Amino acid sequence: MKTVKIRFIISCLIFCFLSCNKQKEQKIEQTVTAQPEMVLDLVALQANSKLGKDTVVTVINDPVYHKTKKYHAVNASLLLKNEMDLSKVDIKNTLIVFECIDGYKPEMPLELFLETKSFLAFKDVDAPKGSNWEKIVKNGNEMNADPFYLVYTSISADNQKYKWPYNVIKFHLEPKNKNIEALQPKDDEAAMKGFELFQKYCITCHAINGIGGEMGPELNYPKNVTEYWKETELVDYIVNPASFRNKVKMPTLGITKQESQEIVDYLKYMSGKKIEVRK
Ligand code: HEC
Repeated sequence: MKTVKIRFIISCLIFCFLSCNKQKEQKIEQTVTAQPEMVLDLVALQANSKLGKDTVVTVINDPVYHKTKKYHAVNASLLLKNEMDLSKVDIKNTLIVFECIDGYKPEMPLELFLETKSFLAFKDVDAPKGSNWEKIVKNGNEMNADPFYLVYTSISADNQKYKWPYNVIKFHLEPKNKNIEALQPKDDEAAMKGFELFQKYCITCHAINGIGGEMGPELNYPKNVTEYWKETELVDYIVNPASFRNKVKMPTLGITKQESQEIVDYLKYMSGKKIEVRK
């Protein structure tokens, strides 16, 4: 009787040990498969005097101060190139995100950032004594641009592709398709094939629920294309857009009618999964 009891206790212990280990394993797996994100901590670099050579830049029509400004600054894209190993980064499919003190996180394509001269301003030449910056007045509040303000000397502030964040603390790189899982038809096996085709051929130019490229129109929100196109026409259009529209920008992608039908089935499925897209 006693040995049975002991055996029981021992097997409980073994079971416990195994399942704990299993949990650990799962955790490790999760962190390994998560997309690696590369972060550049600008404040830490400054503390270690690793920002690089500083210079004075002039910004005409500064969008924050609404006048011409001069700043002490360092070359931002050069800093990024020096401090991050970009050799393994798929530059075309990566975004640079500017993290600010208040959690504001504007982003732009890394490729665009790398090909443009940009500067991290850390001090305003016209700052009053005892401060790094002239005051910024926003919504009646006074603030400053500490620790960094991202500026350009050759880009007009009207160009919406470029971001001018201040209070910047970090740069980080993330894949453009980070949110792609959100578009997966998790509860419908049949739509999976179409999703894979969409991901392969379409997502670089078209978004669904705001996720994806912007060269072509969003295909799901507020109206899904399958809600205003006849299905057979839509299938044919995707195979050969030029047979519908003159001077069409959408390329003929070499997909078959069968594949196009699968994509349309996926698009139909997504019409039931709309998520309001912020403008
Ligand atoms: C290189 C970019 C590009 C790719 C890749 C692309 N499209 Fe397009 N698509 C466009 C553009 C741009 C338009 C707008 C019409 C035009 O000028 O061609 C468009 C239009 C459309 C339309 C018509 C939308 C409407 O409201 O009338 C549909 C549907 C569509 N695309 C589906 C797809 C699908 C599905 C794929 C993948 C198989 C795909 N596109 C791949 C650029 C692209």
